[in-house]
Amino acid sequence: MIKGDTRVHSLYGSPVSHSLSPVIFNRTFEKLCLNSTYVPFEVSKDKLEDAVEAARTLGFDGFNVTMPHKTTILYMLDRLDKTAEKIGSVNTVARTKRGLVGYNTDGEGAIRALRSYGFEPNNKRILVLGAGGAAKALVHRLSKDNNKIRILNRTLDKARQLADDASGLGRISYGELDKNTWENSLHDTDLLVNSTPIRTSALVSQLKIPLNKLKDTDWVFDLAYDKQSEPIPSGSGTISPLEMLVHQAALSYEIWLDETAPFALMRSSLVDYLGKDWK
Ligand SMILES: NC(=O)c1ccc[n+]([C@@H]2O[C@H](COP(=O)([O-])OP(=O)(O)OC[C@H]3O[C@@H](n4cnc5c(N)ncnc54)[C@H](OP(=O)(O)O)[C@@H]3O)[C@@H](O)[C@H]2O)c1
Repeated sequence: MIKGDTRVHSLYGSPVSHSLSPVIFNRTFEKLCLNSTYVPFEVSKDKLEDAVEAARTLGFDGFNVTMPHKTTILYMLDRLDKTAEKIGSVNTVARTKRGLVGYNTDGEGAIRALRSYGFEPNNKRILVLGAGGAAKALVHRLSKDNNKIRILNRTLDKARQLADDASGLGRISYGELDKNTWENSLHDTDLLVNSTPIRTSALVSQLKIPLNKLKDTDWVFDLAYDKQSEPIPSGSGTISPLEMLVHQAALSYEIWLDETAPFALMRSSLVDYLGKDWK
């Protein structure tokens, strides 16, 4: 029950109506009898600054940030942790004595999801579609290890920028996201990460790429989860975006509550709500 002293967490984005983060957090808070709540807010680009000021004024304990605000919000916060600063993207904000601090849990959340499927992201050939906030977090994290990463994006300059900014052992190349470049980049791919908001089955159809061209790709990892995907004929299978969603949420929980997250409970909260497991 919401009371006078309930701790408020929220989500800022546009759109947010499809988001499953409120389900994960609110069901977990309820099961643990925590006096906390998680409220999604539809925030347009021109209202983000007002929304951040509202979080300060109203004393929110923390909030998540999703499309399209992950980069813009950098300049509205008081501090950034090292990872968020390096990649230039924030998905979690915590209220601290030193003001609002921005973090990014997407990269680590994605790695934990990959490992839960038995995929160890080292010495792998990885194709990343998209160069937005989520791609930045993933490429930053994946390039720490000895992976061969190719980034394809609709806007070539953003792919170039992301490739230039990444550092570490990873070897990075980039190109434009079009039919020919994608088909030519698919050879022997261990992992295809699709960080665009369009599911892979829809994206290949838009670009007129036959779906069976993906059969030599070992794993396919769509980050978007708002629409159903057709089955992809990849080697080992598909990594669910919902597994990443729960992992990145658990990392946000740890930042806000400063304690180990109840991962199994958070995951089962979502599974129960959906009525089925995704693995
Ligand atoms: N599962 C999870 O836990 C999780 C976590 C984070 C994000 N996500 C999802 O990942 C997706 C991307 O999020 P984001 O924060 O990275 O968004 P973003 O910063 O807005 O970046 C979107 C990227 O997708 C590209 N794109 C957009 N529409 C496209 C289209 N029609 N065709 C080809 N490329 C297109 C953009 O290309 P341009 O540069 O050319 O505009 C950009 O590179 C969203 O669906 C989000 O919900 C899921």
